Amino acid sequence: PMYKSLFGLSELGEKIKRHYGLKQVAVVPGDSEASIVSKRELGKAACHVLRGELRSNDVVAITGGTTMAQVASQLTTGTAMKDVWFVPARGGLGESLDYQANTLASMMAKRIGGQYRMLHVPDHLGEEAFASLMQEPNIREIVDVIRSARIVVHGIGDAMVMARRRKLEQGAVQEMTAEGALAEAFGFYFDRNGSVVHKMQTVGLRLEDIANTELVIAVAGGKNKGEAIAAIMRFGQDDVLVTDEAAALEIVELI
Ligand code: G3H
Repeated sequence: PMYKSLFGLSELGEKIKRHYGLKQVAVVPGDSEASIVSKRELGKAACHVLRGELRSNDVVAITGGTTMAQVASQLTTGTAMKDVWFVPARGGLGESLDYQANTLASMMAKRIGGQYRMLHVPDHLGEEAFASLMQEPNIREIVDVIRSARIVVHGIGDAMVMARRRKLEQGAVQEMTAEGALAEAFGFYFDRNGSVVHKMQTVGLRLEDIANTELVIAVAGGKNKGEAIAAIMRFGQDDVLVTDEAAALEIVELI
């Protein structure tokens, strides 16, 4: 319904890129929340960006979600990239297996002839369990690989939608709401200014690891995610944003 000329889309992308000081912004036509065609295009555009960046010996940490599933299922390469590694950005988040980062990491590796490692650890751990797991050599090793990722590719969610999907307890949800949680990414929850309002002790990428990652690529679209995407852009760790027209129009309104 609101398809614009390609010039309009690149202009939108340019505005967002300049405002948030990003390296690259790609905008696909349509609303990926309303149209599976548009969501597929979003995934394909992200694959294009990622392929252009992949190098030998790269470790790529990825998150889960339905958008990342579109990236994973469309990744292609001309020649096998045997020494590229895909890992989940963190442990399990209680989501459906189809959308879990472990599943998507293995899918991406297989599609380009690369390698993958999985992390079989739940994310909501108590202090003690966390400390003892981190002493397991097998876990320690994969966690160190994850934290050394040169590239992170991640989805962005609406905080309340994600809290519900992950069955967060009511108390935590109320606390987050009171603190203005609006966006979710990497398993962390952010307010409209891009400040973290809810953080769990995590096996996997910590905020400081994200800050140290060379290339952070966000993939998210849909009119209803506009505000959440803007919040994550204010967090300021992304280098590239792959989004759609509907979200881009919302983001530009907030600039
Ligand atoms: O972290 C963000 C969410 O996983 C995004 O999920 O792509 O299914 O909306 P989604």
